[in-house]
Amino acid sequence: MTRYEQLAQQLREQIRTGIWQEGDKLPSLRETVRRSGLSLMTVLSAYQLLESQGWIRSRPQSGYFVAPAREATRYLSPPQPLLPAETVDINAFIFSLLQAGNDPDCVALGSAFPDASLFPQHQLSRSLIKVARQMPSQGAGVTLPPGCADLRRSIAQRYAARGMEISPDEIVITSGALEALNLGLQALTRPGDWVVVESPAFYGALQAIERFQLKAVAVATDPQQGMDLDALAQALRQYPIKACWLMSHCQNPLGGTMPAAGKQRLLALLAEHGVGLVEDDVYGELYAGLEPPLPVKAWDKEGRVLHCGSFSKTLATGFRIGWVAAGQQVDAIQRLQLMSTLSTSAPMQLALADYLSSHRYDKHLHTLRRTLEQRKHIFHRAIQRAFPDVVRVYYAEGSYFLWLELPAYCCATRLYWRALEEGITIAPGRMFAADEQYRHCFRLNASLPWDPRSETAIRRLAELVGELIAAGPPA
Ligand SMILES: Cc1ncc(COP(=O)(O)O)c(C=O)c1O
Repeated sequence: MTRYEQLAQQLREQIRTGIWQEGDKLPSLRETVRRSGLSLMTVLSAYQLLESQGWIRSRPQSGYFVAPAREATRYLSPPQPLLPAETVDINAFIFSLLQAGNDPDCVALGSAFPDASLFPQHQLSRSLIKVARQMPSQGAGVTLPPGCADLRRSIAQRYAARGMEISPDEIVITSGALEALNLGLQALTRPGDWVVVESPAFYGALQAIERFQLKAVAVATDPQQGMDLDALAQALRQYPIKACWLMSHCQNPLGGTMPAAGKQRLLALLAEHGVGLVEDDVYGELYAGLEPPLPVKAWDKEGRVLHCGSFSKTLATGFRIGWVAAGQQVDAIQRLQLMSTLSTSAPMQLALADYLSSHRYDKHLHTLRRTLEQRKHIFHRAIQRAFPDVVRVYYAEGSYFLWLELPAYCCATRLYWRALEEGITIAPGRMFAADEQYRHCFRLNASLPWDPRSETAIRRLAELVGELIAAGPPA
């Protein structure tokens, strides 16, 4: 971490812990230079970083002040707190969008994956070659659920490092987190059951609900605080909910992370109504700050939470390796996996187990988090400069997504098709809900290197957005 990032980090922690509260004037640049021994440029960069992230505001001639906590996150048009849907019909739409945008020459601002060049390709290849040579003897025993014992032990050790006691026997290796999430939902429900999802939600949750013929209650989710827990309590009272699927960290598409107190209340609410939680934590390792936040699973004493993780976003996209720490459902998950995909690819499991045994993963994650934060910061500033003022940009810490909100009359799906003609993809809001609530929003991937290609794409996208806004509401 550079010095200015360290200083920004310190100030952020001070604001979080209430040392500096909304409206407080921060020490002047000169005062901070004197106290910290850092250069004026370093201190100025730290303050500018915090300003671009919405933590502080500068007032001409007066200095820097702590910004109102929720102002930056308030929607121009707030989502409905609760939205029930007896049927979810989204697969065809998502399929057409993903197919159309699957061109390697596109600037993939709509992609859900981070820039793959940030992954340790060389080391992973070495592990793959090594295990391929040993495969005939080692392959056996990995081709049935729950998967490779060494890999499950490594994952259990990573939980233990966070103070969570998860036995390797509770962990099932899956084909990416997507299989873990789908098996989790299947284990907790029967066709026709009601499920709580976020609004907006990762489209994989909506696709699973459609596939398993479930009914969904979408609960409004805040870009900073996560799911609206009062609305969740209401949903639990009103509907016979069987499962809840949500992201407690770096929510996709909004980016936000639920505070620890929220996670505990969430678990208490679910326990009160006997509801299981499918916790989608694929971006959990891409947290901001010094310490990883604990997942809801950390407070789960009853095995109610199915905590789903993945290496797809942090290490090896194409390996398709994820897992679920399945609590009470560990046997059910294995039976379901046996009936569907049987198991995850043995060479990929063994290669990841080999890579993890080299103890390089944490160092890689550290560099990855830092690079992603820097890139997101650059994208954010560029978007603020290039896009019309009426466009609201939500910057949440961690991960690599930015969520943009256009005036309500604009259709981001139209923007998608228009941008695609120019070789740029975005992820339109319609992908993240069973209804039209977010048709004026879209998600951008800010993990790409800031080079002339990205710069041109952002500038062109800003022009297209400008044209869409200028066209006004449909007659
Ligand atoms: C929120 C979320 N959950 C789960 C997944 C699936 O993860 P995996 O690639 O490990 O299957 C994705 C992939 O985009 C995602 O964005």
